Amino acid sequence: MNALRTQAGRSATPNAPLASALPRTKSDGKGIPMHDNDRQTKHLSDYAPADYLIDTVDLDMRLEPKRTVIHADLAMRPNPQAQADGPLALNGEGIELLSIAIDGKPLTSDEYSLTATGLTVPNVPTAPFVLSLETACDPEANEALLGLYRSNGAFCTQCEPEGFRRITYFLDRPDVLATYRVRLEADKETNPVLLSNGNPVEHGDIEGTGRHYAIWEDPHPKPSYLFAAVAGDLAKVSDSFTTQSGREVALNIYVEHGKEDRCDWAMESLKNSMKWDEERFGREYDLDVFNIVAVSDFNMGAMENKGLNIFNDKLVLARPDTASDADYAAIEGVIAHEYFHNWTGNRITCRDWFQLCLKEGLTVFRDQEFSADLRAGPVKRILDVRNLKSRQFPEDSGPLAHPVRPGSYIEINNFYTATVYEKGAELCRMLQTTLGRDGFREGLDLYFERHDGQAVTVEDFLAALSDATGKDLTDFMHWYNQAGTPELACSLDYDGQTKTATLNVSQILPATPGQPNKQPMPIPLRLGLLGPNGDDLPLTLQDGTELGDGLLEVTEREQSFTFTDIPSPPTPSVLREFSAPVRLTLNLDLEQIEFLMMHDSDAFNRWQAAQSYAAKLLTDASRDRYDPAPVKGKGAERLAKALALTANEQDLAYAYRAEMLKLPSESDIARELARDIDTDAIREARETLRATIGRTIHGDLAGLYEELAETGPYSPDGISAGKRSMRIAALDLLAGSGMEGELERAAAHYRDATNMTDAIYSLLILAPYDHPLRDEALEDFYERWKDDALVLDKWFAVLARSPRHDSVEIVEGC
Ligand code: SER
Ligand code: ZN
Repeated sequence: MNALRTQAGRSATPNAPLASALPRTKSDGKGIPMHDNDRQTKHLSDYAPADYLIDTVDLDMRLEPKRTVIHADLAMRPNPQAQADGPLALNGEGIELLSIAIDGKPLTSDEYSLTATGLTVPNVPTAPFVLSLETACDPEANEALLGLYRSNGAFCTQCEPEGFRRITYFLDRPDVLATYRVRLEADKETNPVLLSNGNPVEHGDIEGTGRHYAIWEDPHPKPSYLFAAVAGDLAKVSDSFTTQSGREVALNIYVEHGKEDRCDWAMESLKNSMKWDEERFGREYDLDVFNIVAVSDFNMGAMENKGLNIFNDKLVLARPDTASDADYAAIEGVIAHEYFHNWTGNRITCRDWFQLCLKEGLTVFRDQEFSADLRAGPVKRILDVRNLKSRQFPEDSGPLAHPVRPGSYIEINNFYTATVYEKGAELCRMLQTTLGRDGFREGLDLYFERHDGQAVTVEDFLAALSDATGKDLTDFMHWYNQAGTPELACSLDYDGQTKTATLNVSQILPATPGQPNKQPMPIPLRLGLLGPNGDDLPLTLQDGTELGDGLLEVTEREQSFTFTDIPSPPTPSVLREFSAPVRLTLNLDLEQIEFLMMHDSDAFNRWQAAQSYAAKLLTDASRDRYDPAPVKGKGAERLAKALALTANEQDLAYAYRAEMLKLPSESDIARELARDIDTDAIREARETLRATIGRTIHGDLAGLYEELAETGPYSPDGISAGKRSMRIAALDLLAGSGMEGELERAAAHYRDATNMTDAIYSLLILAPYDHPLRDEALEDFYERWKDDALVLDKWFAVLARSPRHDSVEIVEGC
């Protein structure tokens, strides 16, 4: 539902729920039951290093759709850290073992044993040895989309987290790092493209067979989950990038034929990502080629395989008429995300899957920062926080609540969650806030220097940050280990005698499954106190400390901070920039909220104030039963007028002004109400407030709508997208006003649209109405795009979001 996502950023996570929806048969697809062992709970505390190591992997993959034969030579040795002399136990699933040899000597059937989930060799040499395996698998029958499978006639792989064991028997765990040499062989006509990780070293024809081969070498040791291979008949779009030290990198994006004209944005985003990571974090790319492949069947959003990223094609393909601004932003973010994994995930990887947040949280944080730098920063923060609150907060307060670094799991596929990704990113953001941008950078520099080429833990990460900055981060581990969203209850007392203001803070840590009692968390709390004219007052604590940046460190369950020289009762702006992933409670009256909405120097909190104002009216109107008074009365008109003033403030970015104009969603309101939710009342309240605003400031909205009419060709850049977003936000309120001619305005917007953004959002605005204009627009869109699966998805999404009862019938009628 990309077109309609209110949040624009990447996120592997919008796609991560798909990962949890992976078909998880209890068999290998061939009717072989999996061992019960595999369903047992695994505990972080049971971690032990692998008994054996694999230094190099030599793979020869003879690709055939129904029976691919893979020869693997694994250079192995006992792990000195494990003092192993026990059996060698390898993972393997859904593959057939054709032969096995050690140092060239075939093993007899009594020298090894096979189960549905692995292969055990009781006696192996104590000195380094080469294990040779020949296995076969059936890519065409592989519907789990893990291991080697087929997508639209191409061979493709997905190995994170445990897919490599479906390619060959292996120590399929992230702390076993090897260099890979891969030979791919396939029918040349149907598979002219043969790709794997690393650099290409050789290719040629196999005479008289119609087949050809390619050899790839990846010099960087990697865990098996980063292995990838692709073969097929794909079109290629190429460019290049010169790194800061002068390495020339060939960049290629492979897509289905005919889609070449939809790759420009992904390519530009890739180059921007490479440049940004050099400038912001000093990270340079390390191979001669960087390949991206877009396929239509892909469980995850995208995958960061070393040098060969594989994407769900909806996160690569964009053309102004097929992709909305939100799609463009999502593509930019996910391309960046996967690229940034090259350092945070690939060069330094996870010791075990409990540490998934180590690569995901940090990489989401990095892609959020990238998008914020390229677009209006505060808007990116708003979108990310909306996403966090709508997806992660419910997870954290429900039966599936789990720590960012879980202590146990049964099935790791279920842990590609908003908590690991999104809350994990918030933890990195809090670390940056606490250490300062420079301190965080120094800490990361040390982390890269110390752990390059290693598989590490969250503790290693925090130790590097702590060692580089001298900051004790021991208690910060609570954020990784304790589930649940802390509630931060704040109140401000003013003392006119002493001219002091005291902020009282208490943190309430709700019980979550398996964690009844919790330790207080260190919470970076950014604060401002606004004087009567709306300016920030200087913040001086009683001990004389001046808080230039307004940053408080909350460490206790209950804590108070007293500020001196406050001449009159100030208005508090608490949790600026949303400096910690907490639920803030702070009693402000509507006048104070309106004051913040007009004056807060913190862009995030200014937007938050507008949302809080609207949310207060909406919850008052829909609590218990629908009561129109709050959403029709004076308060609603005041909100409308304040919104008009902000919308006309020329110094604010268009995208930001657009966010100000958007009302909280129905689910935002439901979350605020928390219990006894009446969805009809919520909808009614929201529609009424929308109408009140649309009517009260009709002139301003219509003026903005006209003024922002697009001239010139479509450009996906942040400023142009911001203008479109603002114009659509105005259109939405205008249509909601119910005033004469406004529905026609939305229909005309649809008819005149020259890009997908204008088309899809006007369609979305029209969709709930019972009106011929709506039917015409829906039909037009369907007719135009019925043969383009990616675009048609947007049409289904519009219907799915429409409150009308006939949506299901329309979809079924297609
Ligand atoms: N590791 C992949 C990603 O985060 C899968 O979700 O992009
Ligand atoms: Zn990721």
